Amino acid sequence: MSQLNMGFFLFIILFITTVKCSSSDPILQQELDKVLSLPGQSFDVEFAQYSGYVTVNEKSGRALFYWLTEAVDDPADKPLVLWLNGGPGCSSIAFGMAEEIGPFHVNKDGKTLYSNPFSWNQVANLLFLDSPVGVGYSYSNTSSDHLNNGDKRTAEDSLQFLLNWLERFPQYKGRDFYITGESYAGHYVPQLSQAIVKHNLEKKAKAINLRGYMVGNALTDDFHDHLGLFQFMWSAGLISDQSYKKLNLFCDFQSFVHTSEQCDKVLDIAEKEFGNIDPYSIFTPSCTGNFSESNGKLRRRHKFGHIGQKYDPCTEKHSTVYFNLPEVQKALHVHQRTSPFTWQTCSDEVGLHWKDSPKSMLDVYHELIRSGLRIWVFSGDTDAVIPVTSTRYTIDALKLPTVTPWHAWYDDEGQVGGWSQVYEGLNFVTVRGAGHEVPLHKPKLALMLIKSFLSGVSMPKLKLVTDT
Ligand SMILES: *[C@@H]1O[C@H](CO)[C@@H](O)[C@H](O)[C@H]1NC(C)=O
Ligand SMILES: *[C@@H]1O[C@H](CO)[C@@H](O)[C@H](O)[C@H]1NC(C)=O
Repeated sequence: MSQLNMGFFLFIILFITTVKCSSSDPILQQELDKVLSLPGQSFDVEFAQYSGYVTVNEKSGRALFYWLTEAVDDPADKPLVLWLNGGPGCSSIAFGMAEEIGPFHVNKDGKTLYSNPFSWNQVANLLFLDSPVGVGYSYSNTSSDHLNNGDKRTAEDSLQFLLNWLERFPQYKGRDFYITGESYAGHYVPQLSQAIVKHNLEKKAKAINLRGYMVGNALTDDFHDHLGLFQFMWSAGLISDQSYKKLNLFCDFQSFVHTSEQCDKVLDIAEKEFGNIDPYSIFTPSCTGNFSESNGKLRRRHKFGHIGQKYDPCTEKHSTVYFNLPEVQKALHVHQRTSPFTWQTCSDEVGLHWKDSPKSMLDVYHELIRSGLRIWVFSGDTDAVIPVTSTRYTIDALKLPTVTPWHAWYDDEGQVGGWSQVYEGLNFVTVRGAGHEVPLHKPKLALMLIKSFLSGVSMPKLKLVTDT
């Protein structure tokens, strides 16, 4: 190699290593965010995937972590679907990706992955976002930010994330876009939708082509959600008559996230009466064994407040091992912090210091229904955290005219998948036998649900299989 060539060669190497860290060219950054393969992934996938950070506030140094898994077939013709988990403080990677709708789920060994046959990337390009800062791999260089999260800044940062992300992924500008999520994302999803609608109106912008949203077992209205929660606990036989009366007396008018001491006391008694069941899925076994960490969480008052937490603490434990592996973090382009950092499925630091949490989303619903978005609300009917009764009271409070009355819907084997009622501006769908995390408990029904939602066709009212 001649001197000149050698110099050029070195320059190229230097150039490549420099831009590998981060790039100011968004398109180049898209290439750098590409994930080639994951540790413990023994199967091939046909789709492209990307992960990394989008800075949402330069001054404080706030960066949100995303993971995009494109659709298996024809990604260019498929919509973009954002999935958000709740908490507040829970990671969309931990729950949405690793045990609900994502293509990769974590095995018991905490080191290897298996392919989820009901992944929603069969029908959409899936975008998972750890939100807000302090959750999962998302961070702020101003550490006090982690103690000052609330609904308002979460919506603002998430909007900024989408705007900046679309600069990096311009192929998704103007694409049909939907937001989905569960639990405390019952706040995030309509609030972010509202922020997008407002942004598009003010800026006459079209980059974020929001078409609708769908939420499951979603905290929506503290009063009606509490009313339905206590009724469900009582009618399912989980709590005593006395506790039921006291809960209605001391907790009905409380905020879900910020409860009074008096209400906390009654909740503690109710928790004891529950015994060691899984409140996120009351008829399935709970994880028994040495899981002091998860049990510790469940024993605290935020058993009812920490509403994004997963049903099976065992599965949660496996992801905690996997997503803390240095090679996994390297493959996902996770920012290496100077201070020690342990990846957690849910962050107590974020959850316990949550600031603003409006008591009701009903006004936002009314506004967004008027704006013409497609809005679907679903509910797994064996969840005792935000149960089906809560969601029914909440929807009833919207006072929407009925289009199609209450009816059973069917899966492809002719079994009742759940029930549904179509209202003007909102479709309500229950999923029979599913807990708090519907796609975890009933993956096949959940895939039917997202297919119907994206095509805008209500759930099949008649048996699909004809009796002969
Ligand atoms: C946070 O600080 C580190 C170290 O100075 C820097 O590399 C990183 O880019 C900063 N992150 C953001 C989002 O500003
Ligand atoms: C449970 O923990 C104890 C004490 O740490 C240990 O001796 C025991 O082997 C553990 N059991 C299981 C099933 O992991």
